[in-house]
Amino acid sequence: MKGKVERLMAEMTPAEKIGQLNLLPAGEGLVTGAAQATTLAQRLDAGQVGAVFGTKSLASARAMQERALAGSRLKIPLFFGEDVIHGHRTIFPLPVALACSWDPSLVEETAAFAAAEAAAEGQHVVFSPMIDVSRDPRWGRVAESPGEDPLLASRIAAAAVRGYQGADIAGPGRVAACLKHFVAYGAPLSGRDYDNASLAWEDLLGIYLPPFAAGCAAGAACVMASFNAVNKVPMHAHAQLIEGWLRGTTGFDGLVLSDYTGVKELIAHGLGPAPVAVARALFAGIDMDMVGEDYLRELPALAKAGIDAADAGVALSAAAIRDLINRSCRRVLTFKDRLGLLDNPFRGLVAAGAVPTRQDGRKLARTAAARSVVLLKNDAVLPLSTGTRVALVGPFARDRRNMLGTWAVSGNSDDVVPLDQAVATLTGRAPKTAWGVNIVEEAWLEQRLNVHGVTVERDGRSEAELVDEALALARQADVIVAAVGEAKEHAGESSSCLSPSLPAPHHHLIAALKATGKPLVVVVFAGRPLALGAIAEAADALLYAWHGGIAGPEGVADILFGAAAPSGRLCVTLPAHPGEVPLSYAEETTGRPNPGHFQKFLTGWLDLPDSAMRYPFGFGLGYGEIRYGLPSLSIAQAAPGEPVVLTIGIENRGPREAIETVQLYASDPVARITRPSRFLIDFQQVTLRAGERREVSFRIDAGQFRYPVAPSLETAEWVRDPGLVRLHVGPNSRDTQSLELTWLA
Ligand code: NOJ
Repeated sequence: MKGKVERLMAEMTPAEKIGQLNLLPAGEGLVTGAAQATTLAQRLDAGQVGAVFGTKSLASARAMQERALAGSRLKIPLFFGEDVIHGHRTIFPLPVALACSWDPSLVEETAAFAAAEAAAEGQHVVFSPMIDVSRDPRWGRVAESPGEDPLLASRIAAAAVRGYQGADIAGPGRVAACLKHFVAYGAPLSGRDYDNASLAWEDLLGIYLPPFAAGCAAGAACVMASFNAVNKVPMHAHAQLIEGWLRGTTGFDGLVLSDYTGVKELIAHGLGPAPVAVARALFAGIDMDMVGEDYLRELPALAKAGIDAADAGVALSAAAIRDLINRSCRRVLTFKDRLGLLDNPFRGLVAAGAVPTRQDGRKLARTAAARSVVLLKNDAVLPLSTGTRVALVGPFARDRRNMLGTWAVSGNSDDVVPLDQAVATLTGRAPKTAWGVNIVEEAWLEQRLNVHGVTVERDGRSEAELVDEALALARQADVIVAAVGEAKEHAGESSSCLSPSLPAPHHHLIAALKATGKPLVVVVFAGRPLALGAIAEAADALLYAWHGGIAGPEGVADILFGAAAPSGRLCVTLPAHPGEVPLSYAEETTGRPNPGHFQKFLTGWLDLPDSAMRYPFGFGLGYGEIRYGLPSLSIAQAAPGEPVVLTIGIENRGPREAIETVQLYASDPVARITRPSRFLIDFQQVTLRAGERREVSFRIDAGQFRYPVAPSLETAEWVRDPGLVRLHVGPNSRDTQSLELTWLA
């Protein structure tokens, strides 16, 4: 007997099938691209919509579903999607911030909470997790990324999928996850958003694809393609990667969505006029066309006549096009079936059962915020005692608006408790506060803000007046806390910047505050890794707080006053200078210079001293004192398959509980191709009571040393060589102890 999907397929007309491939915006939210003048209602009435994204209430989703069912001869329901990137209504820290918790279980918990909130408003799929590895702080969307490392990103990808989907995407409070953006969107030329990526296949396989493999292995039901081209082929036409790698190699059997007008953009990429672009996208495996409606416009004719465009190298018969339409339509229907919609079109659209409470959300958001903050420096200033007289200064001292960060489409900045209030509530005394919003203004930023349709608050005072006000307060205080950083529009989509560093007025403010001689705590609120330059030297204590969501400032207050202990570790390297990006701890070994020999050839740049301060991947301090013992290996030589265990003792010598992330890196001194100078192979997070000592053990597996050798994608081979490897264990990617291990052939 035929299943539901096949029964529908047998009855559907070609036009009805094409309608299922159309994904339209509800028109109630943000417009990020060249939106079409779509009349959604007309399309629904004509049965020409497969799914809608961006509805803002259960009632409107329900109304659209009713209309869609009335317009569909075979009563095929819509599914609903939304950009739930770091929370739905309850906004958690930016993904790049949460990745700094190095805690997949926390990622899973926040994803599960977001899923429950979104499901309660009728959403069936979230356009998340965004798992684009990025090593370029110029790229604004690093804010949404899990950072620079493929292993950490892979664990986060799997955790987010588990959190959103649970055991069943049709289960109560669950939604389908959509892995994005497939692929290498985080590696655009010069960090410019949407720009193309030219990569060695080894980099693609070894750095950018692993999080997608992990997300697929965790059962992700959906994938979204990226805007960029990879090695000359735009991803919306990349059959080799979508049908080939994604479906062929990982076995992914879900739904592939275009990004916003991504099919249409193939024309601008130079791949042909609309019919060719559409044929290529469908052939490549893009099942649904988001916003652009090019499938809807072009496929009816293509299904009748086929296409033969010699100049674009595309030839597909009408029958072949019809097969492709069937293939994608079947995937859309199968997805709807998995969501339980073919049995019950109103699943999730009637008044929801278990709506998570805002209170629980606030609690989780506050924990997540504190866990995301990275303490970079502390010259015995923090934690502050609640009796300390604090001067809280800088543009983010009272800010709500920027704290949510980018891509918080259903968030509300009124939910943010700003830093001055968070401190007052925690300590029982209001800090003396000077804020000066227009310290964050710069001519170019203003221009960008206008582009985004956001206005900048002004209070009419000059920068000098604002600094004077801050200084007057600082002089009366025991400690200065300066809240600086970047505006939320600075980071995010289409917000690449040439010089990822703090705005000049923030440097002026910090220099003036430093000159008071008072202890200076600097808190950086940002959406990307910024080169801090002199600010890192001037600060007596330095917190990297990112844009932490509705409870971001409360999480910071908890850390400042010791209500929470800092445990964040960088998921990206913080550059010493904006000109040295892209960068990563995992940079490849090179031939020059040769340490200890003639040093004509510099390791870095003439205008940046080798001693310049970079905060390495994995770095972060706590309030305690964690001592690492000497590591040992169970055996020094092993055959593949033979168990090898690395053990290291760690001890908390501090007076309070601490969370320590023990990180294990490796290097491969002799290989077939150049390799990263070191690469993360495992990590473990342990909570240690004051005075507690623990042994931490890692099982080492020969598989962790496999790497791709790929003259082409099709001939790629994952190899592992016998011989010497080195293991490096410690609290971050730089401060490690090393051991040698030999793999026998
Ligand atoms: C464009 C963005 O690239 C993508 O991440 C997002 O999900 C879609 N727009 C839908 O808003």
